[in-house]
Amino acid sequence: MNKKYVYDSTDKEAARLKILNEIYNKNTLYHLEKLMRPTSQILEIGPGVGLIGFELAKKLNAEGHYTCLDQDAQHIVRIKDRFSQSSHNKVSILQGSVIEINSIAELQNKKFDLIYCRWVIAHLPTEQIPQILESLYQRLNVGGYLVCEEGDVSTVQVLNSDHSNPSCLAFDKWYQFSFSLEKVFNLDLRMGAKIAALLAKISQAPPSVSSFQPRLTTLREKMMFSYAIASTQLAKNYIQSKDPSITEIIGDMDTLELDLVKMAKDQTIQIDYISNTFTSIRKS
Ligand SMILES: C[S@@+](CC[C@H](N)C(=O)[O-])C[C@H]1O[C@@H](n2cnc3c(N)ncnc32)[C@H](O)[C@@H]1O
Repeated sequence: MNKKYVYDSTDKEAARLKILNEIYNKNTLYHLEKLMRPTSQILEIGPGVGLIGFELAKKLNAEGHYTCLDQDAQHIVRIKDRFSQSSHNKVSILQGSVIEINSIAELQNKKFDLIYCRWVIAHLPTEQIPQILESLYQRLNVGGYLVCEEGDVSTVQVLNSDHSNPSCLAFDKWYQFSFSLEKVFNLDLRMGAKIAALLAKISQAPPSVSSFQPRLTTLREKMMFSYAIASTQLAKNYIQSKDPSITEIIGDMDTLELDLVKMAKDQTIQIDYISNTFTSIRKS
């Protein structure tokens, strides 16, 4: 039985992922492109709406292949739509959980040159992460790369135009709410600070590590905070039943969502968003 995932997969969540991709993809693709060739066999875990995968598939020739695995049926439909409108025929789009990767028929005996996942490991059951990373590593061809890109939510901060930190109640509530969700969903919002050590244990060699922290300045980018609350609204009753103190801390979730929209509209505020760590190991 898979664990409950914190976000739903409604259109608002798809919009949130799209904005995240607009902010982080340039940096991600810069690093990924150095680790692949036109003939690469690529596996992406948890592609969400599939924007990175679509860019990677464009770089492949007829010998290359892009496979992805996501547990969410609505995201799978979105990815299939994206690829159906293009000429890519070197793709396999699979629905399933990475926790059960060894029982997925289409992946039996398959090896890859690049296995990539972003913002997925943080959501897996903490106690199973080392074993899941090991099983991904075992699926690499010699010389292939396992790449995990994860964030550290504790790095987010609000800035005034003079770079001082203003007090912002909506932001403080968002921050507390996010970390309350760690316990409710068995998440690790500081995975970005830990992933390199986990991967080093598997490869027995120091991983290659690079960090990137974007600054959010536009209304569209700053809307991510209210969208994040919106994407947990379907799980509202579950969250409150697991941690009744959440309501005391943040008040009503609908009100917080509206207050975060107001924060996004405040032009004097910029946000240093989640610092992301791009970590890769090579199979020897
Ligand atoms: C935060 S989103 C990140 C999406 C995408 N990687 C990106 O960078 O835009 C996490 C994704 O991982 C998927 N996911 C979560 N747990 C999973 C699991 N156990 N197996 C496969 N996919 C999973 C979710 O459905 C979602 O699409």
